[in-house]
Amino acid sequence: MSRTALVIGIGAGDPSHVTLGAVDAMRAADALFVLEKATASSLTAMRQALVDRHAPGVRVVLVPDPPRDRSAEHGASQPDGAYAANVSSWHDARAAALAAAIVEHVPEGGSAGFLVWGDPSLYDSTLRVLDRVSAVIPLAPKVIPGITSVQALTAAHAILLNRVGEPIHITTGRRLHEDDGRNTVVMLDADCTFRETARPDDHVYWGAYLGTPDEILLDGAVGEVGELIARTRAEAREKHGWIMDVYLLRRP
Ligand SMILES: C[S@@+](CC[C@H](N)C(=O)[O-])C[C@H]1O[C@@H](n2cnc3c(N)ncnc32)[C@H](O)[C@@H]1O
Repeated sequence: MSRTALVIGIGAGDPSHVTLGAVDAMRAADALFVLEKATASSLTAMRQALVDRHAPGVRVVLVPDPPRDRSAEHGASQPDGAYAANVSSWHDARAAALAAAIVEHVPEGGSAGFLVWGDPSLYDSTLRVLDRVSAVIPLAPKVIPGITSVQALTAAHAILLNRVGEPIHITTGRRLHEDDGRNTVVMLDADCTFRETARPDDHVYWGAYLGTPDEILLDGAVGEVGELIARTRAEAREKHGWIMDVYLLRRP
């Protein structure tokens, strides 16, 4: 008999952004699984706090995240094919670890819950990994949407995501060089790449630790606040040991 995978978006950091649907799904799960990164223990603690509050008694199973080989990712000449192969073998290792944990903690016909940061549709590998898990054990996914960090960013700055009739592009720091930067959300950027790509009068709306007590917001013309953002980011990362930040670039 198949098991259900409840893929639960839990929002990007603010406990009040957890939806009623997410709470119902947390309570319905036989066990909740968290792939734990050695470097992100405070994120794991935030997830545990959500479970304690909304689904006390439901078991949380921490699955150590297999190490990812990042050695080939540095340097501008890294080909996309090598990067994809790297990520792919990492996902295989994650799938094997998860399949074993699910079989151990969820009975056939039961539900395995996955607490996903933000929403599972946006730069998250859970659905992709579960696809690989289902090649090993039958698993039917059900997604409960969550509030993304992009929504947390626009809400914190009280701005619209798109201008009237204009598109919006979401990309990573790694690919920002390929973007026209007119209306662009940038995630996963450890280098504040906008300092290389944006024009001085482009507007940047930046947010770190959105929705948490440590939230930092800055915005202004790149020429005026660009270096301040980079400095603030470096100091915050040093202080907390980790950082998550996202920004929107907008050409006047
Ligand atoms: C692996 S992606 C996951 C995105 C997530 N699924 C979502 O819906 O927002 C992680 C990136 O999301 C952004 N992010 C997630 N949570 C954030 C937060 N609370 N504050 C700022 N950025 C955040 C950062 O760009 C981070 O590098």
